[in-house]
Amino acid sequence: MELYVDTANINEIRECARLGFVSGVTTNPSLLAKEDPNVDIKKLILEIYELIGGHLSVEVISTDRDGMIKEAEEIIEWFPNATIKIPMIPEGLSAVRYLSEKNIPTNVTLIFSPTQAIAANNAGATYVSVFMGRLDDIGNDSLYVLYDICEIWDIHGFESQIIAASIRHPMHIIEAAKAGADIATVPYKVLMQSLKHPLTDLGLKAFLADYEKMLSNRNS
Ligand code: G3P
Repeated sequence: MELYVDTANINEIRECARLGFVSGVTTNPSLLAKEDPNVDIKKLILEIYELIGGHLSVEVISTDRDGMIKEAEEIIEWFPNATIKIPMIPEGLSAVRYLSEKNIPTNVTLIFSPTQAIAANNAGATYVSVFMGRLDDIGNDSLYVLYDICEIWDIHGFESQIIAASIRHPMHIIEAAKAGADIATVPYKVLMQSLKHPLTDLGLKAFLADYEKMLSNRNS
């Protein structure tokens, strides 16, 4: 399972690129709005792309088919490898159908149910983003929804890649991996949490202390 970072923060993306275990970035209008309000969006997106080199999803803000397609075409002009994030609404499906026929990759976002995921796949989505945290927030177990979607994908051999999104904690990453999601897109803070283990820190401390002791015994 691939890991993407779910952020528009350039410092977080730079650090992920440096560490080398993250292969993509997903952004959305709320994540962009968290950054400097005067930021030049095109410049920021291109800077992110240059850093990460791999997958980069950029979301449209129009809610009608033609508006979404126009925005998608503009983004593709910024950089041809862009994946266009389209909301899971009927107009969005129509835009996805059009874009998929032009071989423009799409990531259908705000998916909360298997029927939405099936529709997005059938419209030609390259990726379907299933929101785990927001389902859990309203008392729906995201795990069941994700497992159902992965099972349906296995039965039918659907081609869209499944992205587990709205990840809130490391357990979501594990659940997404066990369910069979292709990708988890994870906030920077949760990615970093997922790398930590107290035994790793204690073990490293002991290794270094033992080595130091050996050196000082040797010199004494
Ligand atoms: O990229 C979309 C998704 O991951 C948003 O997550 O935490 O705002 O529900 P969240």
